[in-house]
Amino acid sequence: MSSRALVTGATAGIGHSFVRALAARGDDLVLVARDTARLEQVAADLRAQHGVTVDVLTADLTSPADVDRVAAVLADPDRPVDLLVNNAGASLAGWFGSTEIADEDRQLDLLVRAPMHLMDAAIKAMTPRGHGAIVNVTSVAAFTPRGAYSAHKAWLTNLSLWAGWHHGASGVKVMALAPGFTRTEFHQRGEMDISGVPKWMWLQSDRVVAEGLRDLERGKSLSVPSKRYKVLAFLAQHAPTSLVARAAKRGR
Ligand SMILES: NC(=O)c1ccc[n+]([C@@H]2O[C@H](COP(=O)([O-])OP(=O)(O)OC[C@H]3O[C@@H](n4cnc5c(N)ncnc54)[C@H](OP(=O)(O)O)[C@@H]3O)[C@@H](O)[C@H]2O)c1
Repeated sequence: MSSRALVTGATAGIGHSFVRALAARGDDLVLVARDTARLEQVAADLRAQHGVTVDVLTADLTSPADVDRVAAVLADPDRPVDLLVNNAGASLAGWFGSTEIADEDRQLDLLVRAPMHLMDAAIKAMTPRGHGAIVNVTSVAAFTPRGAYSAHKAWLTNLSLWAGWHHGASGVKVMALAPGFTRTEFHQRGEMDISGVPKWMWLQSDRVVAEGLRDLERGKSLSVPSKRYKVLAFLAQHAPTSLVARAAKRGR
């Protein structure tokens, strides 16, 4: 029986790698992002290359009404979703304290409120069925003091770790996927200066997704792709905060 997955932020970067990997293994898909034309193009490519059923849902996940529409798809018992990937994300240009507070509100909506609501809808739909999986794309930034972005990712990582343990018993897997610097559109969109990030720190999004899906299969509740970032994540959690904060300043 084929599976159906809903991926937010499916048109670029890590989300696009997710939908290509999932379509390649035969999953039907629901793609979510704001740009309808781009969603339709990605959907057409996936249908043509893999023969899977692909639905598109244009939604701005900073809008509560749009989040409700996506949650309704997750709650629909007639067309069950087996895998939710909470991936959509963005970064503000500037550190907290120098940005507009209204923009910080939208970031909180996108990185915390939206995944929380979608996770809630997915868990409530999956639990009675006794199976399902949720991947929350967080970041290794979750393990460092690095402004509001890393605080949001820490929130989602922490909830995922607990939910993986708590809801795993009901057959619903929950995993935080915490990548390091990955080549996508993310840094350009956030107007970040990434010139100081050494080459060895960069990951490819296809690799991030392949490792993430493997770890999900193995029942992990946290996936940190690549050996180098596993080491860095460990150090970030055990070294003195001032040292970690200084090292984590790169990439802005
Ligand atoms: N790249 C990295 O180095 C890195 C590292 C660690 C974690 N991450 C995390 O990985 C996730 C994916 O990032 P990425 O690097 O793949 O970024 P990306 O290449 O910029 O892609 C972002 C995706 O999210 C969608 N999106 C952005 N804002 C949205 C909104 N308000 N509503 C709905 N969809 C929205 C975009 O489509 P539209 O613009 O059409 O909406 C796009 O499909 C994010 O959660 C990010 O925080 C990235």
